[in-house]
Amino acid sequence: MNLLSQEQIQEIRDSVDIVDVISSYVSLTPKGRNYFGICPFHDDNNPSMSVNRDKKIYKCFSCGATGTVFKFIMDYENISFIEAVKKVADMGGININVGKIPKTKNNNKLHEIYDLSLKFYINNINTTGGKEAKQYLYNRGITDEIIKEFQIGLALNGKDTLSKILLKKFDEKDIMKSGLVNKNAYGYLDLFYDRIMFPLYDLNGNIVAYSGRIYNKEDNSKYFNTRETEIFKKGQLLYNYHRAKDIARQKNQIIVMEGFMDVIRAHTINVKNVIATMGTAVTKEQAILIKRMAKEVILCFDGDEAGAKATMACADELIKIGVTPKVIRLEDGMDPDEYITKYGKDFERKIQNPMSIMDFKLQYLKKGKNLSNTVDEAKYVNEAIKEINKIDDEILKELTIKKIIDETGLDESIIRNKITPTEIQKAPKPKPKEKTKNKLNKYEVAQRNLIYYMLRSPEVINMYNTKITYMPTEEYRMLAREIKIFYNDKGYIKEADLIDSVECDEEVLNAIKKVEEANLNENYSIEEIDDYIKVIRDYNVKTEINRLTNKMKDELDPLKKAEIAQKIIDLKKGE
Ligand code: CTP
Ligand code: MN
Repeated sequence: MNLLSQEQIQEIRDSVDIVDVISSYVSLTPKGRNYFGICPFHDDNNPSMSVNRDKKIYKCFSCGATGTVFKFIMDYENISFIEAVKKVADMGGININVGKIPKTKNNNKLHEIYDLSLKFYINNINTTGGKEAKQYLYNRGITDEIIKEFQIGLALNGKDTLSKILLKKFDEKDIMKSGLVNKNAYGYLDLFYDRIMFPLYDLNGNIVAYSGRIYNKEDNSKYFNTRETEIFKKGQLLYNYHRAKDIARQKNQIIVMEGFMDVIRAHTINVKNVIATMGTAVTKEQAILIKRMAKEVILCFDGDEAGAKATMACADELIKIGVTPKVIRLEDGMDPDEYITKYGKDFERKIQNPMSIMDFKLQYLKKGKNLSNTVDEAKYVNEAIKEINKIDDEILKELTIKKIIDETGLDESIIRNKITPTEIQKAPKPKPKEKTKNKLNKYEVAQRNLIYYMLRSPEVINMYNTKITYMPTEEYRMLAREIKIFYNDKGYIKEADLIDSVECDEEVLNAIKKVEEANLNENYSIEEIDDYIKVIRDYNVKTEINRLTNKMKDELDPLKKAEIAQKIIDLKKGE
């Protein structure tokens, strides 16, 4: 990002109050000199995130997330650094002229390959060879407008047409990483042929994979998907996330479906706060993404048995992170695509009247059981209680208990005895922080703590500069270097400015995050700093001695051997 100078970026950052900005995303309460809120970057129920107005940074004491307004917005909205800068500039009323904002692309070659393949597939569907595919889509009620919006394309019957195009422009190594091309003894092979190509997007809206659908023949694999690649990790994305997130936030409602055809169909009736899980079990990461989009989460999976089962699993993943979803069930085993095709706008009534998750679960548990049979009934009650104990919502819990009592006529105390109070569930979990602390050895602790104070004091940076040549651990070395560069350049040190100057370089930020986890006292003593420096120097000397000792063993020339021995002796003297 060379469009804006460091000074401009700082000016933009300073044009807003970090407390105002963050409180538009999470609610903050003042406590002492800081503001506290529930951290949106991990699964949390306690206000572990502090926001400091003067330092212009936020910091989570539990997961260690830290940064300035830019980083917060980047992570919250899954947008690039420059997009976040633009947003903040808008909030601060600063006019920046950066033209079209480029989307984040870390893995450029793969993204370029996908961009080119998309052009190729889109072109194909518009040629005569694409007539049958288009007809198939029209028959399914997919208009040209939708084809365009969802960038639906076509892989024709050629065996290596795409491969040839890609090989002209890209290295074989990169092409093979893309998951679009295969190679065998006879040459290159396109992995997709004769399929309608639905692009799959990452959270930023970059195309990172395809799902190819059969359209002109019978085949037992209706969809063929790109394998996982460096840029395509199934468990980390949700189909249509980048289009749905803003609308979902406005409506404070997100509808979760299984298939991308369901999402595309929902768009035809102007329901756009929809995403799809794409037929795989929902991961914790995906659940967190869903949680961040809206308060009201509605699961609308396929109406069949598999859809019910998937609803149970997805609901549990959400419940674990404190979301109580609602559920829509569709009649006759229909999926949303079929339902909307049949009933059109009537689908909106479904959205307005979702079931509570517990009603759905009770209904699910009753299936295949005969409640007038005592064995079945007992099983039902036990299973239902287990489900009640999973949820956090006091009122919903109470209502469900009442329902079971009504259904079974069981004595209330029998059921109550088996209900775990919500408080117990909420007992604080051991902090993950402690674990990582235990794992650090004393050299790592010394480096971490030294950097902690380097981030706060020029005095410590100077001590580091004069007494240590390098940090033994790579990430600390890199961070210490960044601090040195920043300080040499600017003549002062301020964490927020440093963070912005590295332009949200993930590696540096991760190192900062680790350092901040130390949560040390803001004041230090010179003895303490000297101590850290000594530990690091000792370590460096020991490592060097080891290296030289090994070198000496391998050295055949007696003169050189003696030279090395002398070096070792010198090092030991200084130890
Ligand atoms: N899926 C897949 N491979 C399959 C079947 C399904 O990857 N063989 C994924 C696709 O992402 C699909 C989702 O699971 O969007 C839901 O599957 P399904 O309900 O079978 O697909 P539909 O949305 O009904 O697709 P269509 O209407 O085109 O048959
Ligand atoms: Mn379908």
